[in-house]
Amino acid sequence: MVTSLYLQAVLQMRQAKGQQRYSDAKFSGGVRQLSGKHWITPEIRNKAKALVAQMTLEEKVGQMSQFDWGFHAINPDAGGEINNLMRLLIDRGWVGSLFNLSGAEEANELQRKVIENSRLRIPMITGRDVIHGYRSVFPIPLAMSSSWNPGLIEQTAAAASREAASDGIHWVFAPMIDITRDPRWGRIAESMGEDPYLGGVMADAWVRGAQLDRWSDDRRSVAGCPKHYAGYGFAEAGRDYNTVDVSDRVLREVILPPFRRAVEAGALGIMASFNELNGIPACANKYLLTTILREEWGFEGIVVSDYNALAELLVHGIAKDPKEAAELAIKAGTDMDMHSGFYFRYLPELVAEGRVDERLVDQAVERILAVKFKLGLFDNPYVDLSLKSRVILSEEHVGLARQAARESIVLLKNENGILPLSKNIRKLALIGPMMKNRRDPLGCWAPDGKEDDVVSLYDGILAKLSADQVLYAEGCGILDRSREKFDEALEAVEQADAAVIAVGESIELSGEGNSRAELDLPGEQRALVEAAVRTGKPVIVVLMSGRPLAVGWLDEQAAAILHAWHLGIQSGRAIADVLFGDNGPSGRLTVTFPRSVGQIPIYYYRKNTGRPPGGNYTSRYVDMPTKPLYPFGYGLSYTTFAYRNLKLDRTGMRLSDALTATVEVTNTGSVAGEEVVQLYVRDVAASVTQPLKRLKGFAKIRLEPGETKAVSFRITADDLAIIGASGEWAAEPGAFRLMIGPNSEEGLEADFILEE
Ligand code: NOJ
Repeated sequence: MVTSLYLQAVLQMRQAKGQQRYSDAKFSGGVRQLSGKHWITPEIRNKAKALVAQMTLEEKVGQMSQFDWGFHAINPDAGGEINNLMRLLIDRGWVGSLFNLSGAEEANELQRKVIENSRLRIPMITGRDVIHGYRSVFPIPLAMSSSWNPGLIEQTAAAASREAASDGIHWVFAPMIDITRDPRWGRIAESMGEDPYLGGVMADAWVRGAQLDRWSDDRRSVAGCPKHYAGYGFAEAGRDYNTVDVSDRVLREVILPPFRRAVEAGALGIMASFNELNGIPACANKYLLTTILREEWGFEGIVVSDYNALAELLVHGIAKDPKEAAELAIKAGTDMDMHSGFYFRYLPELVAEGRVDERLVDQAVERILAVKFKLGLFDNPYVDLSLKSRVILSEEHVGLARQAARESIVLLKNENGILPLSKNIRKLALIGPMMKNRRDPLGCWAPDGKEDDVVSLYDGILAKLSADQVLYAEGCGILDRSREKFDEALEAVEQADAAVIAVGESIELSGEGNSRAELDLPGEQRALVEAAVRTGKPVIVVLMSGRPLAVGWLDEQAAAILHAWHLGIQSGRAIADVLFGDNGPSGRLTVTFPRSVGQIPIYYYRKNTGRPPGGNYTSRYVDMPTKPLYPFGYGLSYTTFAYRNLKLDRTGMRLSDALTATVEVTNTGSVAGEEVVQLYVRDVAASVTQPLKRLKGFAKIRLEPGETKAVSFRITADDLAIIGASGEWAAEPGAFRLMIGPNSEEGLEADFILEE
């Protein structure tokens, strides 16, 4: 446990030089070592090399250029340099990639043009943001991660890719695997929460699904593009695109593990983010793109910049002109330039002047062509136009959307078991701006979703009740500043036996560029809920938002709260399934809910400090508890579960051993239910201060009333590894504690010793 004096001295020296770097050398992320599998086989690599050898420099830098075709379609008369450049590259058959095409017909038409114009008949690769579904829109990723069901994540990602591929798309810009601890950040909606372990499990599932590893029935396959590499979710003050300054330790321990797992899962692309990381914007960050990604992890796919991010190198103040931006980006390891046109314009000059070695260009083009070979684009560049009618919005996908939405819902409060509601209820008041809303449940970044495909909560409820059982009134709009429609809604509540009030955020309040400084319900919605509560009728609140909201007042006042996020096309059906108990709620939070914006950043993976929260002169607030509103891992069921008999098969374990921890979980209620059993570990005294808990395993189980299941977790030294004072990932012998329970704050504990 005690670090050697030598190591301490080395560490101090490194710190003194301000260049402390940690290594992933021994790290297996608590899961497995890099598989060593080459996703790009030597045959593919050789084919790509042979082709590059025949290419002119212009053809090469064309391959490294990607353009937003949709931008051109929206602004056909805009002309402008970038549109002209894109058209030139298409006309010469040089363009590497286009994205935002309007569908299969246009994809085939443009592909034909590119191939016919291309001297070497090189196809383009088409991309699109397929974040949480294509036309079959699934819940936002933050919601889906609340399912704690990687199998489901894999299936939804595969369904999205199948639909996208049938519409001419080869490359989906997903999954978004930025870890974040800041609900002000609008893109938290697209993320899978705050935890690096869970994020890694989900990243693995998502990449396998998105790339159709196990799902391709005819030779279709798709490339994924985990993003945004890296640190984008740590924007200061939760303001999108803001500065990111994190230690190398936080980078390695918290931010990178999901990316590493995505690479292990065979991701064929990675998107370098907009943000700077500790002074160097990601697209120009050699440490990120080359040292870690290529040299440590062996990534073989394409690194594409985020949108126009090369041009933003000037705005960041790191490149004096576009030419220097292109130079910095290629030297760092960015292979493809999204929509700035800088690579095409400046790389030939940079090569001619000897500022950029042409071998760097060749390497990037080889990677791009290798992915095109891997996807079969040379043999099969066109999509069968009859495919999409069979795939898009298929019964299977719509069913999956309903299941995913159901499993994403988190029950936050249920006083006196008011939920589930009886279908025999005399009168139920249905109010709130989200009740009949079919637009906002699509969530942010769902460019192919259609309002008409969405089942509103109102329609979902009416599929369970008869029309004379419900009374509807909107009450107010999401952002309304007027209370003039309150009376009608309150009248409905007065006449009913209970009220379901659906409130939340519109699409524009989360997602890219949409950070918030206040995390309460927008507009007059809080006043509407409070007025409904004052009627004395039981009020069930369905919260639909793209992020955690800081609504302590709601927790005090509502009889029940269902967090229903933005759940996609089957939103209303899924919520109604849960409200009436046809399915119990089984979601658990993957992000901590603060009581107030002032507590942010707040997350479970925190350290004890020398003065943990308590009385005076401890790490606390004088005006607010330090505890969150709802902790990570939290969520209720319609039944209750008891945890008993936590047993370890040994109390001492050697580095090469595995330890098994077993707990008995019993359904102590009267209905069947699902529980997410969570395992956390703590290194009690390490060479570097450690979080009080780190998630290292989970199991989602279903129990009938009275049923008991024994749940076991196998723990190896990998699960205990930390970046210690040596700077390497390794498990340090000494005392450990583990906790198994229903969320990050409750559980049974047991201690063991890791021996040398
Ligand atoms: C910018 C976003 O940050 C990224 O997520 C997206 O893939 C690109 N634009 C392309 O639309």
